[in-house]
Amino acid sequence: MHTLQIELGARSYPIVIGHDLLTADNLLPNVTHQIMVVTNQTIAPLYLDKALAALSTRSVQHVILPDGEQHKSTQTLDLIYEALLTHRFDRGCTVLALGGGVIGDMAGFAAASYQRGVNFVQVPTTLLAQVDSSVGGKTAVNHPLGKNMIGAFHQPKAVFADMNVLQSLSDREFKAGLAEVIKYGFILDAEFFAWLEDNIEPLLARDSDAIAWAVRRSCEVKAAIVAADELEHGQRALLNFGHTFGHAIEAGMGYGVWLHGEAISAGMVMALDMSERTGRIGNNTVQRGVHLLERAGLPIAPPSSMTPEQMLSYMARDKKVSAGQLKLILARAIGETEVTTEFTEQELNATLGKFLG
Ligand code: NAD
Ligand code: GLY
Repeated sequence: MHTLQIELGARSYPIVIGHDLLTADNLLPNVTHQIMVVTNQTIAPLYLDKALAALSTRSVQHVILPDGEQHKSTQTLDLIYEALLTHRFDRGCTVLALGGGVIGDMAGFAAASYQRGVNFVQVPTTLLAQVDSSVGGKTAVNHPLGKNMIGAFHQPKAVFADMNVLQSLSDREFKAGLAEVIKYGFILDAEFFAWLEDNIEPLLARDSDAIAWAVRRSCEVKAAIVAADELEHGQRALLNFGHTFGHAIEAGMGYGVWLHGEAISAGMVMALDMSERTGRIGNNTVQRGVHLLERAGLPIAPPSSMTPEQMLSYMARDKKVSAGQLKLILARAIGETEVTTEFTEQELNATLGKFLG
């Protein structure tokens, strides 16, 4: 078992990475008050009983949501509020997310907004959620016009990443999580990128030591970024490498058709293309990046049914648009990225034209 600390002053919290955390009989040892476990129809039959048993001495309720990105909406959020109100949960209660990024983001936003903010704990059950969405306090639901558009920053009190639960993930979901793992190599850690090149096969075979290291290193990189820029005034935006293009794919295709990690993979390839086009990197760096994503079994191009105009219309609503100006995360090398407005409309159109329509 390994514990990392996210350093955020009074809001600092631990990320516990280990095996059998869910079956430990002391999950949340310090919480004795009301706990609402938020999960979904797929995860409940696999892990809800275990989680409830691990919390057994406390006053625990649960709510089971429909599964899928298409349900990451204000309508589904209402089911969490309803459960909290029905069971008369008060301001001292704890909302515990047992699930992937969709459950984590929705439960987190419910915790941020219920009675103006209650305690929140993350038990991420997908690779993507363990390496990214459970850490850092971003919570949200989607709007039909844009991904994660309704949300809040609300840090959890603790994150428990149990390696065992990853064994029941489908291959497709597991690979989607690898996209975010590879992202950390691209944005900040060339050594980790090289480690991923050497270890992609063990990871795909779900070697537990390889996964544990990938989760730990990813969380270390994210923890450092979040500690330095919690509210994304600057370098936290690096975590969105490939996301401006990727979010447009997710929304444009209809939520849930492309998995988040799949869309981010294709988005990172487009960001690499823009980085080359704007003279930041050479083609060998692009090829190195594309090759690793391809070996991880991830898409390296956006869906052919999308047009440049369609993608642009979603990109114009990106959260990184400020005063009408779009910012992109572009690479200067493997392990070095920047948030920038220094690219031309022609360059962006050329990348969109190369991949779309
Ligand atoms: P997800 O939550 O939809 O989970 C993927 C699928 O796996 C679902 O069907 C789920 O029910 C199932 N599942 C979960 N755990 C399982 C397990 N252990 N065994 C078997 N099946 C399991 O998707 P995700 O990839 O975890 O998360 C994607 C979401 O995360 C997106 O909405 C994205 O916007 C969000 N996200 C948020 C942040 C953030 O910082 N808050 C960062 C990255 C992504
Ligand atoms: N996943 C992006 C962030 O946490 O900032």
